[in-house]
Amino acid sequence: MPAIFDNLQAVMASAYPARAFLLKHRLRDHPLFTLSALADLARRLPAGAIEYNAGDILVDQPPDKTPQTGLSIDDTLKRIEEKNSWMAFRHVEQDDAYRAALEECLAEIAPCAAKTTGAMHKKQGFIFVSSANAVTPLHFDPEHNILIHLQGRKRIMLYQSADIVPDEYHERFHAGAAHRNLCGDTLADAQAEAYDLEPGDAVYVPVKTPHWVRTGDEPCISFSITWRSRASDAEARLRIANHYVRKFGGAPPPPGDQPARDAAAVFAQRVAARLTNPFG
Ligand SMILES: [Fe+2]
Repeated sequence: MPAIFDNLQAVMASAYPARAFLLKHRLRDHPLFTLSALADLARRLPAGAIEYNAGDILVDQPPDKTPQTGLSIDDTLKRIEEKNSWMAFRHVEQDDAYRAALEECLAEIAPCAAKTTGAMHKKQGFIFVSSANAVTPLHFDPEHNILIHLQGRKRIMLYQSADIVPDEYHERFHAGAAHRNLCGDTLADAQAEAYDLEPGDAVYVPVKTPHWVRTGDEPCISFSITWRSRASDAEARLRIANHYVRKFGGAPPPPGDQPARDAAAVFAQRVAARLTNPFG
């Protein structure tokens, strides 16, 4: 069977896991990613797996003030050309067909990823359907992510996390006290990298890289394939450990400044988590 991604090994060897990179893929005509196939998927998934709202929103839209369209899920898909909407199908690995597609994609990536970040786990898939000129607000994600673009054109803007997100915010996010959407007025000062995606393009978004998306002049469909690793787990554990250090009056160093101290904090957090939740 032909590979899904072109030139994967060379591209990943030079950039993964810390830097974004572009790939070419062969999924653009896959029958699972048409609007009618997605309407069928919507009927099979639990209602809570589908998030949808108006698409003409702000890059720094407060998440609790996101406007709705008043449409049903089915009507949102049927009227995606005329009514500005944004949809996310979350955890599509719940469905056998989409889990198979996710596994097939990740099976190609896993050997390259394992060289630097070890085995993949918590493999999850998301599908985004959006109207023309729709915005996904600025946010970050705690997982490794390859956004496979299938239909329409979209621009994704990637920021250096250190430029716009304080360490305290990362820590609060992992402690469950801060939202993944990032609001604020620091965007103007930050240097972003723009990636313009056409069907057949994919982009790797590193763990916790702030990003936002705007679609072009036609509806878009993308498939996001994600995984966790020992690197993403360690980042999350370090942030949680630092959250508690700060809460009790300490001043943890920025991640990476003191690697031995970071490793000790990750170990301590793992032990503490095991003690508080021995079956977790
Ligand atoms: Fe994202």
